Amino acid sequence: MIRVEGVTKRYGPTTAVDNISFEVERGEIVGFLGPNGAGKTTTMRILTGFLPPTRGAASVAGFDVATQPIEAKSRIGYLPESPPLYPEMSVIDYLRFVASIKHIPRKEIPKRIDAVLERTSTTDVRDKLLGKLSKGYRQRIGLAQALIHAPEVLIFDEPTSGLDPKQIIEVRELIRSLAGEHTILLSTHILPEVASTCGRVIIINEGRIEASDSLDNLTARLEGATALLLDVEGPPDEVRRALELDLAVRSVAEESRLGDRTALRVEVDKDDRVARRLAAVVVNSGWGLYGMRSLGMSLEDIFLQLTSQEEQANGGEGPAAGQGSDGGAPAADTAEGQEGDDR
Ligand SMILES: Nc1ncnc2c1ncn2[C@@H]1O[C@H](COP(=O)(O)OP(=O)(O)OP(=O)(O)O)[C@@H](O)[C@H]1O
Ligand SMILES: [Mg+2]
Repeated sequence: MIRVEGVTKRYGPTTAVDNISFEVERGEIVGFLGPNGAGKTTTMRILTGFLPPTRGAASVAGFDVATQPIEAKSRIGYLPESPPLYPEMSVIDYLRFVASIKHIPRKEIPKRIDAVLERTSTTDVRDKLLGKLSKGYRQRIGLAQALIHAPEVLIFDEPTSGLDPKQIIEVRELIRSLAGEHTILLSTHILPEVASTCGRVIIINEGRIEASDSLDNLTARLEGATALLLDVEGPPDEVRRALELDLAVRSVAEESRLGDRTALRVEVDKDDRVARRLAAVVVNSGWGLYGMRSLGMSLEDIFLQLTSQEEQANGGEGPAAGQGSDGGAPAADTAEGQEGDDR
């Protein structure tokens, strides 16, 4: 339903997203998890057609977001990181406006608006000005505008960011209630978000995808095993067989080969001395060891980072979880949302 193939996005010297590929199947709820600056928003803006990738392609429901933007966008409901809202507009007028630019037939608009207001529990604020709404209600109106054209695919960028604990629970419940009818990709930088809503997690860090699996499997992988990347000069098959003899080694896979140098990914049980033993195997066999680094660690590091942020977020008020988007001037957000969301 969602397909990202070899997408790279550079901002001048900064590589925000580095050759990522992933898919989300119909009906899945996938959490897009990563620390601040990992590349989540950039990926989502590419997926929703806001931002052209430097390289690679993305498609939604089989439509390429760059070459078939109208078909793709009509199937996407997007909640941007800072929802574009117009402070001087009433909720109902805003939703009418969104419905019209999303080409909902005029006579269907009142029905659709009623449905999304009910879905997001916002019927009681329908006549209020957007600028007078609390953060939680603004976020729900952001969700309402994402749902109004009944899209198959929902892309939510940090849907609970900046909300208080009660609102977080309510928005999560809303997202869960959307499962089944929709395919959902939601980004977050806190773990409980995915634990409570998502079937699968894609972890992104520094623009690269580090893992894609169920949270249970990821946790199990972290607890039981780790992986090493070895850069060895020697006959690949012999090297591999020699490494496999170590009891802590679960598997050896060739990552790449260049001349007689081979990069091998070695999955091992957690064991303080395994790296040392594997280095000895290579060197004692007369082969060259050009490098060894822990691959498992990076995922572990990300998890640690995400878990500590979770504690901060649980510890308290909005600002800890809100990661700064809160203060965003509505005017600036408006420009972004209006420009891309609806064409
Ligand atoms: N318009 C831009 N110009 C230059 N650099 C940018 C721009 N937008 C994002 N970046 C950089 O790209 C990287 C990824 O940013 P992105 O906003 O995608 O991260 P994120 O995972 O959404 O982070 P957060 O959790 O803070 O929202 C960061 O290093 C960021 O500084
Ligand atoms: Mg972001």
